[in-house]
Amino acid sequence: MELATLLAQAGLISDPVTRAISTPIYQTATFNHPLGAPPGSYAYSRSANPTRSVLEQVMATLDGGATAAAFASGLAAIDAVVRLLGPSQGKRIIVTEDPYGGTIRLLDTYFRPHGLEPVYVDTADTQAVERELAAGAIALLVEIPSNPLLRVADIDRLAIACKESGSVFIVDNTFLTPYLFRPLAHGADIAVYSATKYLGGHNDLVAGVAVCRNKELGDRLRLVQNAVGAVLGPMDSWLLLRGMKTLAVRLERQQENALYLANYLASHPQVQQVLFPGLPDSPGYARLKNLAAGFGAMLSFYVKSPDQVEKVLSRVKVFSYAESLGGVESLITFPARQTHADLAPEIRERLGINDRLLRLSIGLEDREDLRRDLEQALG
Ligand SMILES: Cc1ncc(COP(=O)(O)O)c(C=O)c1O
Repeated sequence: MELATLLAQAGLISDPVTRAISTPIYQTATFNHPLGAPPGSYAYSRSANPTRSVLEQVMATLDGGATAAAFASGLAAIDAVVRLLGPSQGKRIIVTEDPYGGTIRLLDTYFRPHGLEPVYVDTADTQAVERELAAGAIALLVEIPSNPLLRVADIDRLAIACKESGSVFIVDNTFLTPYLFRPLAHGADIAVYSATKYLGGHNDLVAGVAVCRNKELGDRLRLVQNAVGAVLGPMDSWLLLRGMKTLAVRLERQQENALYLANYLASHPQVQQVLFPGLPDSPGYARLKNLAAGFGAMLSFYVKSPDQVEKVLSRVKVFSYAESLGGVESLITFPARQTHADLAPEIRERLGINDRLLRLSIGLEDREDLRRDLEQALG
């Protein structure tokens, strides 16, 4: 079946007793466990919960993986994936140099003191990644497109490089979702998501999912999920399933809106540069066109002077000035102050995550309202 069908019918009639159309919410911590209960039956909701199991099954199917596991946040999913690698003294992990700031915080402030060595590179530069992999690494973690610079990595070639170097290939596919891009079909070993974003889609929950291509990695992921216990609760699992049902229509419209606004901003006299892989002159355009079924609905832009940032943020009315992305409501983010505030200022400056860069998550509002809002805010 097509992805739009799988999404619309996510969790349909998953309860064999009542045959409810909507997945029931099994709001229970534990399960009666009669003597001689078959192995694998439900025992305790940290280990497995039927509502969460439906969500995990849907995600595994959408991504074409052997196992999916749902977590209390995207960062909890990334944390579990890094743990399953067995991070230990001197092991290197190669990471996109402009990922979500929280990923850097997790790797640098938690895993680095325990011996893991994160190495940040521009993962759109295939040769630079190949050099680092050749020097030895337990894994490569790529965000596609990167955040907030929207760079696009050559996933197919990086999958080959990972195979050659024996590194686990992890793709953070939060921005595109399986509807637009399926990393496992392109050779990745694990796809991770902040499901808080497009999958959930309504800015009303925090959740994460990791999907493993093979059972061996999947079993290790499940072990971490159960051992650490940062699981997604039944209510939020249901909310996420419900959000996912409309992912296809949401993303189609959101990316149409994003392309329209990217073109508008690109010709605005106060805007110096627009970063959006859907613009044909963008460096990531050809690559993403080859890899994915769309360009997503995230875009960033540089205004000409830093004082315009304050002006825009104070004037916007349709856009909300808030962290996060992927919901039906459009958001404007100032990465240097919000999502990437934890990065060292010199790294931010080198990357271009500076005091003139704004990021937009384009929602489902009427595109003319969004354009007019930017017009009046840019003045
Ligand atoms: C690409 C990406 N990955 C991971 C995360 C972390 O997810 P969460 O906020 O759900 O923990 C985020 C959050 O913004 C993100 O944008």
